Amino acid sequence: VTVTMLMIITAYLAGSISSAVLVCKIRGLPDPRSSGSGNPGATNVLRIGGVSSAALVLFFDMLKGALPSYFGYLMGLDAVSLGLIAVSACLGHIFPIFFGFKGGKGVATAFGAMAPIGGDLALCLMLTWIVLVLLTRYSSVAAMATATLAPLYTWWLDERFIIPVAMLSTLILIRHKDNIGRLRIGKESKVSRKKTIKK
Ligand code: G3P
Repeated sequence: VTVTMLMIITAYLAGSISSAVLVCKIRGLPDPRSSGSGNPGATNVLRIGGVSSAALVLFFDMLKGALPSYFGYLMGLDAVSLGLIAVSACLGHIFPIFFGFKGGKGVATAFGAMAPIGGDLALCLMLTWIVLVLLTRYSSVAAMATATLAPLYTWWLDERFIIPVAMLSTLILIRHKDNIGRLRIGKESKVSRKKTIKK
């Protein structure tokens, strides 16, 4: 229990490091919290800074989820403990202690946390997200649909991890409340590259 608690705290602190804010600061780009959709995540950095900045954010945000859950897995922790550690990493990303508790949606971090479960699951999730972004152009719709399918994929591929995956999926869906509101009134911004920002 002590090890799990320690890992939950460490995961939260690591998750609290906002890659989007840091990458934008280092590259001299506008703060993602006050630009584009206002969300400090890879999608919004794509709008503000372009592909390479977005890729960096995606990589580091995924790492924040992947490392804690992978270490927990190596230590042989049970599924619920792994889920709590992964959720904690996402909560760090969503409510970062180092960045005024104004964080992102946790999509990349949750994906990173699910990836160590297996390459087949990671591939299914990635392909689902990519196909849906290409079809809809909405990063949020792709994320919500992928989050909804994730527990089903996990049930099919490795049912030991349904509970932690369902915990992460629920968190992501709740966090997209504002996006759902914007989608309903037709105000959600689509995935677009730098210089094509639409308000
Ligand atoms: O990954 C976050 C995405 O689902 C929504 O981002 O910037 O369009 O609100 P954004």
